[in-house]
Amino acid sequence: MVVGSGLAGLLVALRLAPRPVTLLTKTPFLAGGSSDLAQGGIAAAVALDDSPADHAADTLAAGAGLCDEAMVRLLAEDGASAARVLIAEGLPFDRDDQGVPLLGQEAAHRRPRILHAGGDATGHTLVQALVARVRETPSIRVMERTCAVDLVLDEAGSVAGLLANHADGAWVFHRCPRVVLATGGIGSVYLRTTNPPEATADGLAMAARAGARLGDLEFVQFHPTALAVSPPGDGRPMPLLTEALRGEGAVLRDGAGHPFMLDEHPLGDLAPRDVVARAVWRRVASGEGVTLDLRPALARAGADRFPTVLAFCHESGLDPCAAPIPVAPAAHYHMGGVVTDADGRTSVPGLWACGELACTGVHGANRLASNSLLEAIVFAGRVARDLSVRMDADSVGGRPILAPSSPFRCPVVPRVPCAEAAPELAALALELRRTMYERVGMARDQDGLSVARDALIRLSQRLEVLAAAGSEGEGGPEGRPAAADVLRWAELRNRALVARLITAAALARRESRGAHYRTDFPESTSPGQPRYFLTVADL
Ligand code: FAD
Ligand code: SIN
Repeated sequence: MVVGSGLAGLLVALRLAPRPVTLLTKTPFLAGGSSDLAQGGIAAAVALDDSPADHAADTLAAGAGLCDEAMVRLLAEDGASAARVLIAEGLPFDRDDQGVPLLGQEAAHRRPRILHAGGDATGHTLVQALVARVRETPSIRVMERTCAVDLVLDEAGSVAGLLANHADGAWVFHRCPRVVLATGGIGSVYLRTTNPPEATADGLAMAARAGARLGDLEFVQFHPTALAVSPPGDGRPMPLLTEALRGEGAVLRDGAGHPFMLDEHPLGDLAPRDVVARAVWRRVASGEGVTLDLRPALARAGADRFPTVLAFCHESGLDPCAAPIPVAPAAHYHMGGVVTDADGRTSVPGLWACGELACTGVHGANRLASNSLLEAIVFAGRVARDLSVRMDADSVGGRPILAPSSPFRCPVVPRVPCAEAAPELAALALELRRTMYERVGMARDQDGLSVARDALIRLSQRLEVLAAAGSEGEGGPEGRPAAADVLRWAELRNRALVARLITAAALARRESRGAHYRTDFPESTSPGQPRYFLTVADL
């Protein structure tokens, strides 16, 4: 069973074919997640004058001393081969007249290395191509509009299955000894985010509740250039203005129109993402408007290179050819997640994780631009290989048999807050997101983190009270809650748990490093503090 239909989940399911897979996703039409929104592209050392060693060196430098070096080398080496396979398989990357893939430039890469598709519509183009293949693959059973709610473990602590709520509100216990979580990121834990609303940290919370080892949770990457037009907190993702624009010459300007990035870092507008994001944030937080001047990039690369960005600008009534565009930083990517080995295995037997949810150690304290689609591709392939071996061993004459498991208790369907509680749940969600953005966001300190920790505990307790007073599941006296009510509750429960875990990790790291910036400990310690791992029992 694979949960999630972003790049990671789609690829695991496809690479496992013809072995039978159930692909379960919250998304209505299969294509979705952050993958569908990805703009810049996929970093891979495929150029003749590039090398995996150079790509690994740039990744390690961005990671600010906390990457797992062996995993980074694996990412860069396997990544170059995996990208070549995708090119050979005919995925529609942008190419020159000779058919050679075009490569873009992004921050902290020392050379152009980014494969892209449809200009800046890379994610959408690739996901559409993969969705079409999934639809044509008979071994993949797709269940859309289905929310995975909890893993079920047997008495030995191994995965026995998964409890899910389906589109019609039905609760289903899927008995399955092997589950791959590919549920993406956590952006919706924050008030301002580039992530789609479904990025509510579900997989991370489910794995945490199952006792999985988690790591690097304090490292949340903010993208410096989200389009700042809608009021914060309306729940909608902020449209991204891809870093590839700055790769083509777009310039950040302060309130007075001054191009300020060279005052901040020798690499100017192409400095590492955390440096640029903080430089923008300091100005925005002090009430100054920061803008991105797209005109040099549009003149150099042509409008065809950035159709998505131009559409966002036009929808907002902005003309990027006439004037610079307002930007603000927004939560974009979680470096932390469920700790896995090189084959995506977690600390819970029977549970694999890949994509943004996983913590493979390749990103350290700060992800290098366009390394996450690559990570999803590389580790989805490795998860599928590892599972194939096990599934083949568990089949007789090509027919799968269920691996024997220890006894387990059939899960009890949880109580869910009733429909009337919806306004209070919405208010709690807004409070949670605001707390995280203001106190556990781009600049943190002991006092703010402690206030956040206490507020999040109170919020979680209130949620438990609302749930206890709510409807029972299937067959309960008040009837079955609607799927929308279950989703609202499940997503908030997951966000609350993960918000508390991120806050705990941010309190524990008493230094500044990469994306984790503490105003009360503004320097990186030397030697640096080690990577920080925890389980839900540490809360
Ligand atoms: P996702 O693509 O987020 O997919 C997660 C899936 O899980 C979704 O289908 C979701 O519905 C499903 N799901 C979640 N919870 C549940 C549940 N409880 N039950 C069932 N299903 C569930 N990275 C790059 O490398 N290059 C880029 O150019 C780039 N651009 C980006 C632009 C934007 C605007 C954003 C937001 C991110 C960008 N990133 C980029 C990051 C990258 O897109 C993501 O890290 C990556 O796509 C994650 O893929 P994934 O498959 O792990 O998760
Ligand atoms: C972007 O296109 O700026 C996003 C790239 C990424 O997040 O890797």
